Amino acid sequence: MIIALCGFMGAGKSTVGKYLASLLCCEQIDLDAYICKREGKSVPEIFDAVGETGFRAAEGECLREIVERYSSASSPDAVSCVLSLGGGAPLNPMCFDLICKGTMCFYLKVPVELLQTRLIKNHAQRPLLAGKSLQELKAYVEEKVAQREDIYRKCSKRVIDTAGKSIEQIAFEIANF
Ligand code: S3P
Repeated sequence: MIIALCGFMGAGKSTVGKYLASLLCCEQIDLDAYICKREGKSVPEIFDAVGETGFRAAEGECLREIVERYSSASSPDAVSCVLSLGGGAPLNPMCFDLICKGTMCFYLKVPVELLQTRLIKNHAQRPLLAGKSLQELKAYVEEKVAQREDIYRKCSKRVIDTAGKSIEQIAFEIANF
């Protein structure tokens, strides 16, 4: 079984994923890092070369590869890997389907104000946020979170309300589900 983590940029999918994988003694895969390794480029370089559409196509192919490899890698009840998705992965209908059918997904829900604060500090490697003024970035995050919320909920078995919780608490909550 693959445990997947979804949520907006800055939700802590990679950080929680690493901790959760160490708790469960299994592999952790970061979908963005997997795409970058396969393409031999960083996320901004992929966006520069093939645009968001090209990035989404590579994201879909990589997700399919991971789900095929890891869903058959262990008995149905054992966790074979923790997969930290990119924030936009569930938007692609093919990815949405792979997430629903091939993983047990958890939505890491973070208050929008906290996402804005985190992303203001840390947006250099995120092409969808690059070049935006502070106000534009805040408005973008608010709008996109509202648009994506329903999709994140629909592909997840459970919503993890992360407000006020440590990485360890969030990981334990998922591990004990
Ligand atoms: C994206 C999120 C990013 C990355 C790409 C697009 C998005 O991943 O896949 O920049 O559309 O939300 P993180 O959520 O890991 O930052």
